[in-house]
Amino acid sequence: MMRKIIFLPIVALALFSSCKTKNKNSTILSTEKKWWKEATVYQIYPRSFKDSDGDGVGDLKGIISKLDYIKSLGIDAVWLNPIYTSPQKDNGYDISDYENINPLFGTMEDFDTMLKGFHDRGIKVMMDMVLNHCSNEHKWFKAASQSRSSPYYNYFHWWPAEKGEPPYRWSIFDDKAYGWEYNKPTNSYYLHYFADFQPDLNWENPALRQDIYKMMRMWLDKGVDGFRMDALAFISKDTTWPPLPKEYNGNWGLYYASGPKLHDYVQEMNREVLSKYDVATVAEAMGDVARVKKFVDEDRKELNMAYHFEAIDFGYLPGEYKMPDPNGFDLVKWKNVYVKWDSAFIDKGWGTMYLGNHDQPRMLTRWGNDAPEYRVASSKMLTTLILTMRATPYYYFGDEIGMSNIKFDRVEQYNDVELLTNYAQVKAKGGDLKRFLEGMKISSRDNGRTPMQWDATANAGFGSGQPWLPVNENYTTVNVEAQENDTTSVLNYFRKMIRVRKENEVLVYGRFSLLDANNPDVFAYTRELGDQKLVVLLNFRSEVKKVNTEVDLTKAKIIISNYAVASTDGSLQPYEATIFQVN
Ligand code: NOJ
Repeated sequence: MMRKIIFLPIVALALFSSCKTKNKNSTILSTEKKWWKEATVYQIYPRSFKDSDGDGVGDLKGIISKLDYIKSLGIDAVWLNPIYTSPQKDNGYDISDYENINPLFGTMEDFDTMLKGFHDRGIKVMMDMVLNHCSNEHKWFKAASQSRSSPYYNYFHWWPAEKGEPPYRWSIFDDKAYGWEYNKPTNSYYLHYFADFQPDLNWENPALRQDIYKMMRMWLDKGVDGFRMDALAFISKDTTWPPLPKEYNGNWGLYYASGPKLHDYVQEMNREVLSKYDVATVAEAMGDVARVKKFVDEDRKELNMAYHFEAIDFGYLPGEYKMPDPNGFDLVKWKNVYVKWDSAFIDKGWGTMYLGNHDQPRMLTRWGNDAPEYRVASSKMLTTLILTMRATPYYYFGDEIGMSNIKFDRVEQYNDVELLTNYAQVKAKGGDLKRFLEGMKISSRDNGRTPMQWDATANAGFGSGQPWLPVNENYTTVNVEAQENDTTSVLNYFRKMIRVRKENEVLVYGRFSLLDANNPDVFAYTRELGDQKLVVLLNFRSEVKKVNTEVDLTKAKIIISNYAVASTDGSLQPYEATIFQVN
C-alpha cells in the first residue's frame, strides 16, 4: 500500500540513554527488558482462521476451538485483525461500531470467553485499532453526513462545495485515486485517504479524540493486552489544505505520514490512555527511519514498536502497484535494508520483524520458493530469519505449515478492495491488464487471506460452508493434521525455532552484525550478547551456495538446522538454514 514512499538515509544516532549495554563493539545497545520484546506474536486473520457455524467466514468460536493448537505453537501473544461491527467492505478496516463485536464473528460473550481462554493459557491478546478512519455506516458519519449543524459534522474532514473543487488529495483505495467524495445533503466533500466508504476521522477535534480514548479504555479495561495501530501515521492533517507539496514527488503516503500534529496526538493518547496500562502497542508507521523512530523512542512517550514497509515492499518495479521485478529481488540490497532498520533502533526504540501479514502475499511464494520440492526447506529458512532478528517477530497464521499463494487467474476471483481499485485504475488508463493480473499472482493481498488448512477433509477443515475465499488446492497435502506428528514438518520446525528463541536471550537482545555482506545468495549474520555468539546462515537459493563467515564452523555447536545434516564447510544446501553457537 505504501509502495510510493521514499526512505531517507539513517539519522544520526544518539550516543546515550538510560538502559544500554556496552557490547564488544563500541556502539551502545538498548537491552531494557520488556515482555513485548521477548514475545513472538502470532497474527490471526479471523475471517480465515476457523469457521464454527458454517457461514463460510471464520469466527471467534472458531478461534476458541483452536486455542490449544495456538498454545502448542509456543507463541506468547496474538494480534487479531478487526472483529468490530463493520460492513466488511475492507474486511473490518471499515468499523461502524468500535465497541461491539461483528455478529459475523460472534458476540461480546464469545469475545470474553476467547480472551479468558487465551489468558488462561498465558497468551496475550492485541487488538487492531483503526483510528484514521471509520465506516460511512458509523453513527457519527451517518449523523454528520445529514447536516452541517450535526454535532458529529466536525468528527470528519469536509470541504464546502461553495468554495469550488477541493484541493487534490490522493486516495489509496479509489478507482480514480481521488480522496474527496461529494455528499449532497451537506453540499460538501468529505475526505477519505482510503476508500470512499472509509471517511477520515478529524483528529483536530478534541471531542473526537476523547471519544476514541474512551473506547480504547473500554477494551483495555476488559483486559486486552495491546493494540496494533492501523494507518496511525495518517491521523494528523494540515487542514489549511495546501496543494500537495511538490517535494514529495508523488509519494503522497509519505506526505500523509507527516501531519503537523501527529506526535502531539500520539503523546496525548499515551498520557490519557496507554500510560495507565501495561500494554504493547505497535504502529503501522509509514516512512523513513527518522519518521518511524519518533513513534518508539522511549523518551518521547508514544508507542512501543513500529513496523516499516521498506523490506516488505522491496523488489517491486518503481511507480507501479506491487508489480514484482521479473529479475527477482536483490538480496544484497535487501540485507542492507535490515541492517539499516536494525541500527535505527540500536539505542532507542524497538522494531518488528515480519515477512507476511493480511496485507501481503504468502511469505513462501514471495520470499522463498513454493515449488513442492522447496516448500519445506524454504519455509523453514524464512521462519529462521523471522525468529532471529533483533526485533519482535510477527508471524502470520498458516506460514507455520508453509501455506502458499493461491494465484488467481481472473479478476472476478478477487475480493480485495485494494486489488479491485488498482485494477480499475490500470483499466481506465488502458494499461496491460494481463500483465497486471500476472503480477498479482505474486503480490496481491488475497493470496494471504485464503482459509487456514487444518486437514485434508472438505474445505481443508476450515468449516462446513463454502468459504468466503477459496481454499488453496494444495490443502490435501499442506495441512496441520498432516504435519502434527511429522517431526520434520514445517510446523514442528516452527515450534522448535520458538523454543530456540526463548532459550537464547541473545536472539532477542543481542547485537546483530551482517556477515559476508556482498554475498548475493546467502543472508548471514551474527547475534552477540555478553559472551554468547551465534552465527545464522540462510541460503536463499535453490542451489548449493558458498558463504564466507571467517569462523571455523566445524567446531561450533549446531543449535538448529533445517537439514538433518547441517553444512559446516561454508557451502550451504538449497535453502539451508543453520544456527551455530561459536563460543
Ligand atoms: C492497513 C490495513 O492493514 C489494511 O488491511 C487496510 O486495508 C488499510 N490499513 C486501511 O485500514
